[in-house]
Parts: sequence; structure tokens; C-alpha cells
Amino acid sequence: MKLPVEVTIYEVGPRDGLQNEARQVPTADKIRFIDALVAAGIRDIEITSFVSPKWIPQLADAAEVARGVHRQAGVRMSALVPNRRGLETALASGMKEIAVFLSASETHNKKNVNKTIADTLLAFDDVIPHACKAGVNVRAYVSTVFGCPYEGDVDPEAALTLTRQLRDLGVYQISLGDTIGVANPQQVEDILGRVLATQPAKDIAVHFHDTQGTALANCLVALTMGITTIDAAAGGLGGCPYAPGAAGNLATEDIVAMLHGMGVKTGIDLDKLAEASRMAASFVGHELPSKYLKAHLGKQARARRRAEAGSP
Ligand code: HMG
Ligand code: MG
Repeated sequence: MKLPVEVTIYEVGPRDGLQNEARQVPTADKIRFIDALVAAGIRDIEITSFVSPKWIPQLADAAEVARGVHRQAGVRMSALVPNRRGLETALASGMKEIAVFLSASETHNKKNVNKTIADTLLAFDDVIPHACKAGVNVRAYVSTVFGCPYEGDVDPEAALTLTRQLRDLGVYQISLGDTIGVANPQQVEDILGRVLATQPAKDIAVHFHDTQGTALANCLVALTMGITTIDAAAGGLGGCPYAPGAAGNLATEDIVAMLHGMGVKTGIDLDKLAEASRMAASFVGHELPSKYLKAHLGKQARARRRAEAGSP
């Protein structure tokens, strides 16, 4: 199997994960979670969203999180930005990288940002050039590439058209989102095949939610096609509040364990990552879905019981 030597994990747990939680996680705990992820070797991390707090109350403390995180050389921290106001607050809070977002289907786009796709692209004109002028790198997400919670099937050409338009606007990378976790490996091969015919693989990332358990299989196809950036959320946190039925993101532990097992480097320490996820689970108040995490915590608990019983 032809696989990359090294893969960049783009961690979205503090943003995609926490935006979907019923419990409001205190700012200090969000910062501890981010610190723990960085300590585990994560080098690309989306820490929050500068969106309307009326739309995403869970991330209303974006400025405090951005000002409170402990920045380190070599660690790129990013945040979602929907409009000029979000950009201004992000810049004032010290952000050096942002991500804009839109959907491949009109209904999800309207429900998510209250605009048509065309108007969202127009609004980016008021964000991306100003961000670039301020020396800020801009990433972009295209959501609902593989299916829409409101419209069902999505035209596979939509990802290609939007990718071209976003590249023309000056974004450095485009992450193709399976917002509701309905993609299958054959569809990934089809859509990525179209996109990679016009874009270098390093400029494209994949963002799979894991509603039906297909995220790892989808990643494997993407990896064999040359993709080297994979979005994931610690523990499998995640979901879009404007995409009913969407489960968590691909769990960072699960993809990292699979990659390491195949000899692909990520620079991430799995034990420390599991520790960050364990911490996140305590903050959100429920178990997280990562398979690797469950196995790891089970192994730790068995070792503890053996030690308490005095057996080797
Ligand atoms: P709107 O209601 O059309 O806009 O929302 P508005 O301009 O009328 O603003 C409404 C209120 O929000 C106003 O407050 C604004 O000032 C305020 P009021 O005057 O009523 O008191 N406001 C802001 N406040 C702080 N920061 C801002 C900001 N902008 C406006 N930046 C808007 C339009 C785009 C703002 C709104 O729809 C929004 O914030 N949407 C965000 C939705 C969201 O974050 N969804 C989840 C992220 S996307 C995702 O998860 C998918 C992804 O993971 C990939 C995948 O899985 O596929 C990325
Ligand atoms: Mg997402």
C-alpha cells in the first residue's frame, strides 16, 4: 500500500468538539485541554471560533481562550471566523491563523451561516484579503461535501467548484468535510479524484465525522491518494449544531494509532493524547467514543486493579 511517510493531524477537538457539547466548559479548562494536546505533540490545532455567541454559545469565550493559551514555537493555532467582525476580534486576540467555512449544499449553508453560498463567498472577500494583509494564514472548510442533513445527496462537482473559488481567494488549504459522517470510501475516491486533478494534495485536507464508523476507512483511501493532512478531534468529540444527527469527528487517537501501526509518523505521543482526552471527557461530563481511548483506559484500569491486588 502506498502511504505517506508522515501525516499532519489537524486537531479540531477544542473547536468542533466543544461547540457541540451541552455543558459549557469553563475557559480555564479549555486552556488546560489545549495545553495537554500540545504536550502530546499536536502541532496544528483549532482552538475556538470567533462566531456569533448567539449561534454558538459554547464558544462565546473565544477571545479569552485565544489570549489565555500558551503559545509555543512550532505550534500553529487557528480559529473559525465567519465574517469581518470575527476576523477583527481574532486579530485583536493574537490569532495568526484563521479558517473560513461554507457548505457545498445551500440548505446547510443557510442554516449554518444564514446566507446563500454565493453571499458567503462574497463575505469572504471582506475577510480573506484583510487577513492575508495582516500576515494571517487562511484555511477553508467546505462542509456537506459527501451529503447534507437537509438535502441528502450533494453534487460531487460542488466540492471541485468551491475548491477552485476558495483557492482563487487565497486560502492555503481546503478541508473537505463529511459534516454528518455519511461518506463511504468509494465516494471519497470519486470526489478526491476530481479535486486532486486540479489541486496539489498538500493543499487539501479531509474532515470526516464518524457517525457510521466509516471515518478510518475513508481516511485510508485519502492517504493512498496522497492526502497528508487529516482533521480529527481528541476522543472523537465533535459535531455541528446546525447538522442534526451528526456524530463526533474521527477520533485523533484512532487515526494516530492506525497510522503508527502502519509506520506512518505523526509526532504525537498516544499515551499523552489519551490523557488529554481523558481530561476532556471529565470536562464535558461523559464518555468519549474513541475506540483506542476506551481500550487504553480499560488497560490502565486492569493494571491498577492488578497492582492493588498485589499480583504481577
Ligand atoms: P446573522 O444572525 O445572520 O448575522 O448570523 P448578524 O450580522 O445579524 O449577527 C447576529 C448577531 O451576532 C449580532 O448581535 C451580531 O453583532 C453578532 P446583536 O446585534 O443581535 O446583538 N455577531 C457576532 N458576534 C461575535 N462575533 C462575530 C459575530 N458576527 C455577528 N463574528 C453569522 C451570521 C455568520 C454570524 C452566524 O450565522 C454564525 O455565527 N454562524 C456560525 C455557525 C457555526 O459556528 N457553526 C459551526 C461551525 S461549522 C462546522 O462545524 C463544520 C466544520 O466542522 C466542517 C464540517 O464538519 O463539515 C467546519
Ligand atoms: Mg466538523
